[in-house]
Amino acid sequence: MRISVIGCGYLGAVHAACMAKLGHHVTGIDVDERKVAELSAAVAPFYEPGLEDLLQEVQSTGRLSFTTDMAATAGSDVHFICVGTPQKKGENAADMTYVDAAVRALLPYLSPGQVVVGKSTVPVGTASRLADTIAGAQPDVHLVWNPEFLREGHAVSDTLNPDRFVYGVSDGSEEHPAVAILDEVYDTPLSAGTPRLVSDLATAELVKTAANSFLATKISFINAMAELCEAAGADVTQLADAIGMDDRIGRKFLHAGIGFGGGCLPKDIRAFMARAGELGADQALTFLREVDAINMRRRSRVVELTRELCGGSLLGKRITVLGAAFKPESDDVRDSPALSIAAQLQLQGAVVTVTDPKALANAARRFPELQYVEDTDSAVMNADALLLLTEWQQYRELDPHSLKQSVKELRILDGRNVLDPAKWRAAGWHYRGLGRP
Ligand code: UGA
Repeated sequence: MRISVIGCGYLGAVHAACMAKLGHHVTGIDVDERKVAELSAAVAPFYEPGLEDLLQEVQSTGRLSFTTDMAATAGSDVHFICVGTPQKKGENAADMTYVDAAVRALLPYLSPGQVVVGKSTVPVGTASRLADTIAGAQPDVHLVWNPEFLREGHAVSDTLNPDRFVYGVSDGSEEHPAVAILDEVYDTPLSAGTPRLVSDLATAELVKTAANSFLATKISFINAMAELCEAAGADVTQLADAIGMDDRIGRKFLHAGIGFGGGCLPKDIRAFMARAGELGADQALTFLREVDAINMRRRSRVVELTRELCGGSLLGKRITVLGAAFKPESDDVRDSPALSIAAQLQLQGAVVTVTDPKALANAARRFPELQYVEDTDSAVMNADALLLLTEWQQYRELDPHSLKQSVKELRILDGRNVLDPAKWRAAGWHYRGLGRP
């Protein structure tokens, strides 16, 4: 099929490459010329495992191209909307500017029989509004809401082998003409057994925000338990192992630590609360305010623990933060808890050095006042304390014995509870985890 993908960020660039991998002819469109130039040269504009290899592989087939020119969408059977919906400045609500602009720009190029597919995460009600806009311009074009559930760091495999497809269509019916067209797009994963659900537009939009809210709630639940464990002298990692053995609960997303960040979970729960308020259903989501508050409390807790670890004062203490990305296998620093902690420590008088295998360039753009060192060995040199805040494999594997020669003081705060406390303590380190004795 001929496919256009509008918006080539974390979602769109991966989606475009994966659709070409599935055999379609794909044009990716983005307003950012630099991004288009890089993608055209099969260079990934951000770090995502497997993306660059995939870009190279599919571009050699001639089935994938990128441009800034919206006119290139003319003639596509399916147009995917993959632009961002960031949090509005100073408000909880999502900023719909990019989605609205993308749809408006697409209207002149639509032809009868084509399908517009929304993948961006939007406040419920958006799809029906956009469907009206599209119908006003081109009555024979259908809109489907097809939320995306990919995780950064696993984006390629999540797109090629998702755990489910959700299609929201205006009448919520399997017989809707757009269903068969989208089935053709996703023929390979559907044939491999990926389940798909057809719903109305509003349900499809809500599935996405509900899923992210559930995940955020699960993380804040275990972080609340970590607070309790700290107060009671218990161990949250053992608690998570034990409750996670109950199938109904499950162990996934029960990793207590410095909390969630990134471009999705934090802004999605806030936009969801804002939208619920507009709909007069704000009470239903007041618990998400607590989920957000628990999450933000982790960051200040780490600052306090670091102060304790450093003997009561942060002034002039050399702190090395291991990890800047919001999670490993990503260079994304949007709302990264690690960086936010690093900045708070610096504000309180510590001398902070941040290291990360992939995210330093993005981190330096966001917090230019911090010091960044690429190489771990140099970053830890003469440190008064180490803080492991993003659990990259190379930090999980750090050797407490060899590190002893480099640092000034043997102090480590394990913000992700991924190190073996017994091993570090046996090597002479003052080890602190979160929610652990
Ligand atoms: C999240 C969802 O998991 C995806 O399904 C969704 O498609 C995506 O948002 C999106 O809306 O686009 P992502 O933001 O890539 O994906 O990251 P997650 O893997 O969900 O991790 C989010 C944050 O939670 C990270 O900072 C991670 O370190 C933290 N986390 C995760 C914990 O603190 N504890 C856990 O147990 C799990």
